[in-house]
Amino acid sequence: MCGIIGYSGTGNDVQEVLLTGLSGLEYRGYDSAGFAISNGSLAVHKREGDVSGLEAEVPASNHDGLAGIGHTRWSTHGPPSDENAHPHTDCESRVAVVHNGIIENYQALRTELSTAGHEFESDTDTEVIPHLIESALENGATPDQAFRQAVDRLEGSYAVAAVFQADETIYVARNESPLVLGVGDDGHYLASDVPAFLEYTDRVIYLEDGQFARVSPSGIVVTDEQGAVIDTAIDTVDWDPEDAGKSGYDHYMLKEIHEQPTALRKCLRERVSELENTITVDELSSLESTGPIQFVACGTSYHAALYGARLLRENGRSAQCFLASEYDARSIPITDETLVVGVTQSGETADTMSALRAANQAGATTLALTNVVGSSAARECDHVMYIRAGPEIGVAATKTFVSQQAALAMLSGVLSNGDSPTLIKDLRGLPDKLQHVLDESTAQAVATEFVDADAYFFIGRGYNAPVALEGALKMKEITYKHAEGFAAGELKHGPLALVTERTPVFAVVTGTDAAKTIGNIKEVEARGAPVIAVTDSPEAVGQYASHVLAVPDAGPYLTPILANVQLQLVSYWVANQLDRSIDKPRNLAKSVTVE
Ligand code: M6R
Repeated sequence: MCGIIGYSGTGNDVQEVLLTGLSGLEYRGYDSAGFAISNGSLAVHKREGDVSGLEAEVPASNHDGLAGIGHTRWSTHGPPSDENAHPHTDCESRVAVVHNGIIENYQALRTELSTAGHEFESDTDTEVIPHLIESALENGATPDQAFRQAVDRLEGSYAVAAVFQADETIYVARNESPLVLGVGDDGHYLASDVPAFLEYTDRVIYLEDGQFARVSPSGIVVTDEQGAVIDTAIDTVDWDPEDAGKSGYDHYMLKEIHEQPTALRKCLRERVSELENTITVDELSSLESTGPIQFVACGTSYHAALYGARLLRENGRSAQCFLASEYDARSIPITDETLVVGVTQSGETADTMSALRAANQAGATTLALTNVVGSSAARECDHVMYIRAGPEIGVAATKTFVSQQAALAMLSGVLSNGDSPTLIKDLRGLPDKLQHVLDESTAQAVATEFVDADAYFFIGRGYNAPVALEGALKMKEITYKHAEGFAAGELKHGPLALVTERTPVFAVVTGTDAAKTIGNIKEVEARGAPVIAVTDSPEAVGQYASHVLAVPDAGPYLTPILANVQLQLVSYWVANQLDRSIDKPRNLAKSVTVE
């Protein structure tokens, strides 16, 4: 959570770079925003609310500065307010600091600093950092020394950046919170995520935990905890700046839903060969796994993991799925035979990272299935498989869910050594079938009809059970309306009591278990609820439903992926008609870096 941006250079207007970067980072948090520019003194602007509000408030001019840092906040310590917005400064405004993460020992530090006479203006944990720096400066430290001494006192997670008055260097450090550096022709950048500066450069340095960096117009110097200079590789990212824009769509979410055929093609490219009847994932060539497989994930990624675990079980492997926040290595059997797969779009989710670290410590082999190159999960796991969905800016996961499912289908092929001609053929045909769903969907009309419903229920069985859970998650997070997803057979064991004529039920009916789910539809209809069947057999199933959202048949394992797309569209159009903040739903953030 929270987004950080920084720029030091001569080629661009610092304020413009910071505001552009902050807009690109708002998916990480959007309850307040601010920036500081060093131009002899420190010019600090910050306020509660989103980046557009900040932008409207500040003068359009540049500050003649060469270095600046910015921050967009998802509040943890203290509510959204002007005072709690970053950057935070010391008593004399000599240094400004932005931070993403949690300082666990901030209370003790604050007491110590207050006793020494420092005055605090916010409720945040972050504010101790500029005061620690100030204290070190007063003891004669240089800015670099003062920054290091302050960081040395911190316990917890942080990506932190500081600018000093009359200094064009930005000082940064990272521990368990994302931070990437950008190498440009006319200056250097830092950010929580690459899209924040992608418009200016695609050359990046991934900072490791425990590393520090000095970012200045002339270069980037990365050092270790002791201050020794480290040689770092410069990678080039293959994301297009256009990928990070809205391309004419009203919302990122709608754009990303429509990008799904392309995302799938990228995910499958050079991995699935119909000609040779093989699934080959180069990144996994050294992965050996014969023991139990455990998946750890949160939210939408957990729903993808449920799908992946089921596929593996059907292919004869022992596979279990855990909510990452409930993965307790003390009570779960983990040996050096165990493969633990972290499914995480961002690669930064704190719960998932904590589960993966526990698995590593317990001796398991770990695999990250992620979208973000160089993310914490990618770096800390023994193996990594990229889903290649491209940047996803909308908080609601859409194209990354579809790409995760496709990647998991390939992973199940790799881990079960059984290249299935049917699965391979179905995977190859999936992008075109998904395009067909997007072209033909009547989800908008369904949304219009049911926009005033009291609640929405989603049911499905087998591979469609995770689709039902995901349909409900999407509906609740962007429409703020009550929605629940159930394995279809569970409805009659309690939730049926909630079903009325004002609670539409979306029934995902594909594959071999259709007959049983049709039985569940009848139970619902008998209580007067409208049923919307999402199905690849509109003729056979349609007679039991009041509405049908049809999908092509993509085989037993992949048709559920298409059914999910119809549900994404229904949620989108309900939220649109309710005028919700679709890309930045209230209280949420894209990358959840707190446990
Ligand atoms: O980055 P991750 O995949 O680890 O994120 C996990 C969840 O926070 C995420 O899937 C969340 O549930 C979705 N953004 C909801 O649409």
